[in-house]
Amino acid sequence: MASARELLQQSDPAIFRALAGEEMRQAQGVEMIPSENYTYPEVLATLGSVFTNKYSEGYPGRRYYGGQEFTDTIESLARQRAKQLFGCEHANVQPLSGAPMNAAAYLALLEPGDTVMGMDLSHGGHLTHGAPVSHMGRLFRWVRYKTEPSAEGRIDFDAVRRAALEHSPRMIVCGYSSYPRDYDYGPFKEIADEVGAITLADVSHIGGLIAGGALANPFDSGFDIVTTTTHKSMRGPRGGMILCRSKFRLAIDKSVFPGLQGGPHMNQVAATAVALAKAQGPDFRQYCRQVLDNAQALARALLAGGAHLVTGGTANHMMVVDCVSSFEINGRIAEETLDRISITCNKQVIPDDPNPPLRPSGIRLGTPAATTRGMREPEMEVLARCMLEALRAHGDGARLERLNAEVQELCSAFPVPGIEA
Ligand SMILES: Cc1ncc(COP(=O)(O)O)c(C=O)c1O
Repeated sequence: MASARELLQQSDPAIFRALAGEEMRQAQGVEMIPSENYTYPEVLATLGSVFTNKYSEGYPGRRYYGGQEFTDTIESLARQRAKQLFGCEHANVQPLSGAPMNAAAYLALLEPGDTVMGMDLSHGGHLTHGAPVSHMGRLFRWVRYKTEPSAEGRIDFDAVRRAALEHSPRMIVCGYSSYPRDYDYGPFKEIADEVGAITLADVSHIGGLIAGGALANPFDSGFDIVTTTTHKSMRGPRGGMILCRSKFRLAIDKSVFPGLQGGPHMNQVAATAVALAKAQGPDFRQYCRQVLDNAQALARALLAGGAHLVTGGTANHMMVVDCVSSFEINGRIAEETLDRISITCNKQVIPDDPNPPLRPSGIRLGTPAATTRGMREPEMEVLARCMLEALRAHGDGARLERLNAEVQELCSAFPVPGIEA
């Protein structure tokens, strides 16, 4: 009997060719976008399973469709594992991804027009933290706090406190997409308590690193709500989770379904359960430590080679390189140059960037995916050397070709889980 792959190849050669091409791209190059990772083969198998056939509106034990004995099992397991890993009282594992996850959390606890504090986009916050182009940015009144470039990107908590006292937010949002530091959640919680605000930490980037014990857990500082995507450092399927104290359980669950979503993607819920079980093991804790060690090694090598890093280095899995001041090229050219040597990164605005988002001053790099393949500090040094040379010689096609061969040779020794050689 033909395998599923063979069937796809016969019935839809165009899609099959694109799939094969993407597999080759992922295997031959290094993924350095900090929000990306290579998931487990078991997660891929669960995602491509018959759970995708099933409608399961509602929650375990209270569904609007029949035939739920197995879907109830997987969702209950996912919730239980998430609660254990994050030390929280309730977990909703149905958000389809990070943006709907945050929207559901805001809509559960806020009224339109409420004031919310969130981190400024160019200082590292995410679009869903009130960027004016997002619907959430229009629905609520956002007060944005910034980092202090003169203090290597630390947060000025006196300024945050003054803003909170002035604007009396209903919620304070912590979390980032491009902030190479760990958060100090304690002062945010103190300020929130002083003004009577709910605390929400969006740890989408670092959810796995928190679960693996490598970074601080906002619940340890008394936070009310923690949201996280499941596909970044967690290595799960694309998806989101809302974790909270019991007193928010009803509001959060009602907000996800029926408030915002219809039927959950049960193949994704099953795959989330699989990734959460993996995150409970000692190997995952070791992986998380290595992600941070690799980020330190990469940052050290880039700094030693003359690159300027926003915040002066990193305390997590990512770093932002100011390409204009380091190499006199913008982030778009830097991204395209690194693509030519099989290193994938993304262009990135830097704090208060004078340049527009499609031609920003920086790039963002991260180590979760390379670490998943087994790369360690020596490989980070090779990659840093290749990147520095390429960014300085971005117009020299022959040099870029030589560097591309070196990067691809390195990759061949580190197979990607789930992609057969
Ligand atoms: C902090 C943060 N929150 C939310 C999201 C949105 O997640 P998604 O792209 O899955 O909607 C991201 C994505 O990068 C993120 O970094």
